[in-house]
Amino acid sequence: MGAVSAAVEVTDLVYTYPGADEPVLRGVSLAVPAGTLCAVVGPNGAGKTTLCHAIRGFVPHFYKGELSGTVRVGGQDVAAADEDELARGIGYVFQNPFTQMSGITDTVFDELAFGLGNLGVPPTETRERVEEALVRAGLADLRDRHPFQLSGGQQQRVALAAVLIMEQPVLVIDEPTSQLDPRSTEDVFALVAAMKEAGRTVVLVEHKMSLVAEHADQVVVLDGGEVVLAGTPQEVFTDPRTAAHGTLLPEAVRLAGALRERGIDVPGAPLTVGALAAALGARDDGGADVGPAGAAGEA
Ligand SMILES: Nc1ncnc2c1ncn2[C@@H]1O[C@H](COP(=O)(O)OP(=O)(O)OP(=O)(O)O)[C@@H](O)[C@H]1O
Ligand SMILES: [Mg+2]
Repeated sequence: MGAVSAAVEVTDLVYTYPGADEPVLRGVSLAVPAGTLCAVVGPNGAGKTTLCHAIRGFVPHFYKGELSGTVRVGGQDVAAADEDELARGIGYVFQNPFTQMSGITDTVFDELAFGLGNLGVPPTETRERVEEALVRAGLADLRDRHPFQLSGGQQQRVALAAVLIMEQPVLVIDEPTSQLDPRSTEDVFALVAAMKEAGRTVVLVEHKMSLVAEHADQVVVLDGGEVVLAGTPQEVFTDPRTAAHGTLLPEAVRLAGALRERGIDVPGAPLTVGALAAALGARDDGGADVGPAGAAGEA
């Protein structure tokens, strides 16, 4: 290890669910430095959620099975930590937000207050923190609604507000935008980015690569339970192997590729629509020339 300690460090993790023949994680290693965002991407069944469970300690504390290798969060071996330490240290947003709801509160407000009450936060401070989280998560209008009577997307926002409010230093967020409309998706990413800016370390599973490209410090591509590629968004999304592992590249990368196929020069390696527009605008000719018509044929 170098001088900077990783907030999350997974080493040679091999895990087999109880009764299964084959491991679903096959020697996974990754390191997430404190205060950075690591996106875990890859096809359905790759093992992303299982990896999240292992980082939070649900594997091996809740899911038994066969485990080797280690997960350290804040230097602590997760397998040796107790549930109380894990809950205080690591916020978790489930892929299915329904799983997250406590089932014992009648309003969104009380649902968010519930976790703080468990931590012994005094009522006045609890109210203030809940009010702030409701506004930041776009839930102010839903404060008196029953958690079970929310749409999937609304439940996802409650689940995210719940980790916003608990202020654990490490967050594991499994597909927080799967049921959100595009506008809410942007809002949720802004919220996750703000939590990172506040110094929290984030492991995020996400399929929307444009948002991953914009917000991740590191991208880990998981396929068949193995890390097949890892690096900065720039490294991963310009590597031809990424698409081969079932990952749809960010729109800007695909568009830049399509333009180049037609003989249109796109300088650099833009990952976002904004960067692509800037790259085209900054060409020597000022971007006025769209290249020879049909230069690359009509493939
Ligand atoms: N509780 C379980 N018991 C046995 N096998 C499981 C269990 N949960 C998941 N698996 C298996 O482990 C593998 C990885 O599943 P996992 O949920 O981690 O994938 P994922 O990458 O999160 O997929 P998705 O993109 O669909 O959410 C799959 O083959 C799945 O069938
Ligand atoms: Mg999953």
